[in-house]
Amino acid sequence: MKKVLEVKNLKTHFFTQKGVVPAVDGVDIEVGAGEVVGIVGESGCGKSVTAMSILQLLQFPGKTVDGEVLLDGEDLLLKSPEEMYKYRGNKISMIFQEPMTSLNPVYTVGKQVAEILRVHTNISKVEARKKVIQMFEKVGIPEPIKRYDAYPHQLSGGLRQRVMIAMAIICDPVLMIADEPTTALDVTIEAQILYLMKQLQKDSGTSIVMITHNLGVVAEVCDRVYVMYAGKVMETTDVFTLFENPLHPYTSGLLNSIPKLTRVDEDLYTIRGIVPNLLNLPEGCRFCPRCDRAMKICTVMEPPLYDVGDGHQVRCFLYDKELMNG
Ligand SMILES: Nc1ncnc2c1ncn2[C@@H]1O[C@H](COP(=O)(O)OP(=O)(O)O)[C@@H](O)[C@H]1O
Ligand SMILES: [Mg+2]
Repeated sequence: MKKVLEVKNLKTHFFTQKGVVPAVDGVDIEVGAGEVVGIVGESGCGKSVTAMSILQLLQFPGKTVDGEVLLDGEDLLLKSPEEMYKYRGNKISMIFQEPMTSLNPVYTVGKQVAEILRVHTNISKVEARKKVIQMFEKVGIPEPIKRYDAYPHQLSGGLRQRVMIAMAIICDPVLMIADEPTTALDVTIEAQILYLMKQLQKDSGTSIVMITHNLGVVAEVCDRVYVMYAGKVMETTDVFTLFENPLHPYTSGLLNSIPKLTRVDEDLYTIRGIVPNLLNLPEGCRFCPRCDRAMKICTVMEPPLYDVGDGHQVRCFLYDKELMNG
């Protein structure tokens, strides 16, 4: 499979008064053509900072200090701000959790989507309007001609997110990054939006990076998944294996904390302890203080990612053959 995105050893740190926060600490991610790849993990584990680093939207005191972000083989980290401006919305686009923060309240939604087209193509105003209305129809916005002239606040959350999706796909990007695109929506609207994204993805073949804290969303739309914890990838595999055969104790913990209809009489499992302070990471494995299967070595050494075959990788000493057999 052709690789659309290759993130290699990405390190993004925040240089705060209290010290350096290694929010993204050597992350590797690959996305193939037409793939939907999930990044999942608890709040604060570095999902959004990873996305912002790929798009180079980080602001001071955040800075990407190492790594490569190859989009179709070209390193985005070497691009100038002007070049990145041309890439964003065009080759690579994004959808955020709260459309209200990405839509400008003083312009109609139609105009804002048309503007994206006008920035990236030589299309006339009339043509742009026509294309936007077609796109609104495609993303399931009822009465698209009327809605073209609506202001963001006049639309429901679900419709605003459909506008964001229209904006993200109108230039036919090779990659779309969606950061918790449905987290602010109620569950029926969430299901509709996920279904829409999946349909559009099938039609266009655009690759998607789906960032979420919700394993239900992962199960719904992703082909492959990266599980992040405190700035690092702890496990990566295809979505089926993730649910059937999770290897990392953290992944198992996440899966066990999903409410199941068949377990109503039991207490809901939660992973004990809290996410570590990134300014004061534990020595060894960063999940160790919360891990039920921790061994002595976990308190002193950071485990590497072990390859267990078929693209399944896990950052845990339990999968070090020599260590566990001898
Ligand atoms: N502006 C900032 N200043 C300092 N630290 C930050 C800032 N933004 C994010 N961080 C750090 O980066 C970590 C990852 O944040 P983020 O990527 O937003 O998490 P999430 O996985 O919930 O999207 C946070 O836990 C925090 O420690
Ligand atoms: Mg986030």
